Amino acid sequence: MQSQSQRKGIIIAGGIGKRLLPSTYSTNKHLFLLYDKPMIYYPLTTLMLGGIKDILIITLKSSIESYNKLLGDGGKWGINIQYSIQEEPKGIADAILLGEEFVGQSHTVIILGDNIFHGNNLYNLWKISDSFDKGSTIFAYQVSDPERYGVVDIDTNGDVLTIDEKPKIPKSNFAITGLYFYDNSVFDRIRKLNYSSRNELEVTSLNNSYIRDNLLKVELLGRGMSWFDAGTFDSFLDASLYIKTIQSRQGLMIGCPEEVAFRQGWIDRNQVVNLANTLEYSRYGEYLNEILESNK
Ligand code: DAU
Repeated sequence: MQSQSQRKGIIIAGGIGKRLLPSTYSTNKHLFLLYDKPMIYYPLTTLMLGGIKDILIITLKSSIESYNKLLGDGGKWGINIQYSIQEEPKGIADAILLGEEFVGQSHTVIILGDNIFHGNNLYNLWKISDSFDKGSTIFAYQVSDPERYGVVDIDTNGDVLTIDEKPKIPKSNFAITGLYFYDNSVFDRIRKLNYSSRNELEVTSLNNSYIRDNLLKVELLGRGMSWFDAGTFDSFLDASLYIKTIQSRQGLMIGCPEEVAFRQGWIDRNQVVNLANTLEYSRYGEYLNEILESNK
């Protein structure tokens, strides 16, 4: 068992974003503004809420400069961000392999850069990760359009039979979300995978390798949790409207790294004041000042 501070996280943020063309000709989709902040802030804060401070972002060479401008080395939020380049979009599992040196002997938590998780259950989810020891634990969510995702087939005893990637006839309504806990065997497993018909090393093939060894656990995220894969125009808009609706109702931001870092005790009040000053005239900057006011 590994403590939170030893756990390392990887955000997979490469790919060419074909489904969002032409906008993705010039900009990596994870830098798009999802309601009021860059999309990458959401998966980043999901990891930070899990206590993960060592984070590798895997992305395209052409985007590194923009990421450096936006996030830098994470020091401003008390975390450590490194980058690795995926030269060609050869699949999610191919991207994970680039994290081998960064992960070392640790377990790893992988999150897809276009996945947005929100809800109370996030805390339970991170509790699961505290006791995670061996194999892989992944998360399924009930959806009305399972054919868009990896779909899990579970038998009546709750045992996982298989996962199919974007099946024409899905065996269930449970989509596999883009959050994966893997033990250190993940890299050897990826090396043994074959390329799929679309010439990618698929994360679903990786998960099926754990199933074959009886080492994969699928946890169902309850209906009180919200999950979006913002990889298409419609899902991007749905996610943006969701964030707007909840934030407007509560007056609290979703996916604000400064706030998470402050609440985790990784940065102090003065650091938040300095960060807020650099964001002067934006609603985002005002929000940081409000957090300080309400936490005196
Ligand atoms: O969102 C959950 C789904 O994500 C899962 O249910 C599927 O099993 C999984 O294959 C994946 O499906 P997508 O069709 O959404 O994958 P997409 O090609 O959009 O890639 C997901 C993220 O990974 C995206 O943020 C871009 C990044 N990526 C993708 C590829 C293929 C890379 O960084 N490198 C790549 O080579």
